Amino acid sequence: MTDNSTSNDLLGAQIVGRIDELAAISETPDHLTRVFLSREHRAAAELLVGWMHQAGMLARVDAIGNVCGRYEGSKLGAPCLMLGSHYDTVRDAGKWDGPLGVITAIACVGDLHRRGVRLPFAIEIVAFADEEGTRFASTLLGSRAVAGTFTESALASRDRDGTSMREAMIAFGLDPDHIGAAARAPAEVLAYLELHIEQGPVLEAQKLPVGVVTAIAGATRLAVELHGTAGHAGTVPMPMRRDALTGAAECILAVEEFCRSDRGGLVGTVGYINAMPGATNVIPGLVSFTLDIRASKDSYRKMAVTDIVREIETIAKQRQLDLQINVTHENRTAPCAPWLQQQIADAIAAEGHRVFELPSGAGHDGMAMIDIADVAMLFVRCRGGISHNPAEHVEPADVEAGARVLLRVIENFRMKA
Ligand code: GLV
Ligand code: MN
Ligand code: MN
Repeated sequence: MTDNSTSNDLLGAQIVGRIDELAAISETPDHLTRVFLSREHRAAAELLVGWMHQAGMLARVDAIGNVCGRYEGSKLGAPCLMLGSHYDTVRDAGKWDGPLGVITAIACVGDLHRRGVRLPFAIEIVAFADEEGTRFASTLLGSRAVAGTFTESALASRDRDGTSMREAMIAFGLDPDHIGAAARAPAEVLAYLELHIEQGPVLEAQKLPVGVVTAIAGATRLAVELHGTAGHAGTVPMPMRRDALTGAAECILAVEEFCRSDRGGLVGTVGYINAMPGATNVIPGLVSFTLDIRASKDSYRKMAVTDIVREIETIAKQRQLDLQINVTHENRTAPCAPWLQQQIADAIAAEGHRVFELPSGAGHDGMAMIDIADVAMLFVRCRGGISHNPAEHVEPADVEAGARVLLRVIENFRMKA
């Protein structure tokens, strides 16, 4: 006999428990870090495969390390509604960014399975192996592989220890020459939906547990290197120095100044810096830093990147530093499909919440998935809008609210007319 009811706390408690279980898989016990192609990546993948099996899905790890699960519909082999998010993290991460979408999707399918419900389409869940780009500079590696847009040149990028992505893939047991096998055809995917924490304060200010995303803002990431001359900290007079670190400091402040004076929601961040050779009594000869620039409009972001690069070039020239700048990531703004937004809005209203729309300033796998399917996102409120921080938190009641909306979207999903 199948149980057709969805219980009151059908999903929330299980999801919160699993969030904690997954968060225990970390490079260091006190600071959650789980990066692409690491031991922790493998352990997390095994856990997710097990949860997908329990939810009645077929599950496998694909050619780039994504965990893919499939729950057949009433007709075997039908195209799928694809649900997903990522299970890699930034360094010293919160435990909700990414995993909430994956674990909630598994809980929803598990609920359908428990009730014996089969829909006229299949449901697939993809837990993407790399969205953050923490280990290698390029981001969205998992979803790009699924969308068939993974660029082979990314395999040459190296992590901080000098290991190339190609080497790391081989060590993980994957074949870097067969990443193409992870790609899916547009005809196989009816739509891509992602539930994610908001990572900002808007829903909290609106006193709402969930919201409909209208678009995912584009981003440009740059890797900057300034080459000066390393020298003795006691002997080289100040006017004769080519100090790469003071040059970088001036560049970083110039980026901040530029973005602050802007009126169009431009944001610029230097999140990583490294000075070489890195000793108290040595003038830094080489500095590398990253630059992340986003804006609500692509044309605006592109103009800002051009201006910022010009400023950095001017500073380098004035300080007689050699400069190298590479674009490591560039993603245009991804609009969420109106027909999918409507279905999310309907589900939110049916769950008794006010429908509220908001854009995403953060990047998401939908930016890559849009190349093979229409995409949409459901945001869940997080405390204080804090994210990319261990203090990231979602109230269990909001977890439950998000899960209920997602389940309703799945069960009432209408294919594109
Ligand atoms: C991903 O979290 C990003 O927006 O950088
Ligand atoms: Mn993130
Ligand atoms: Mn994320």
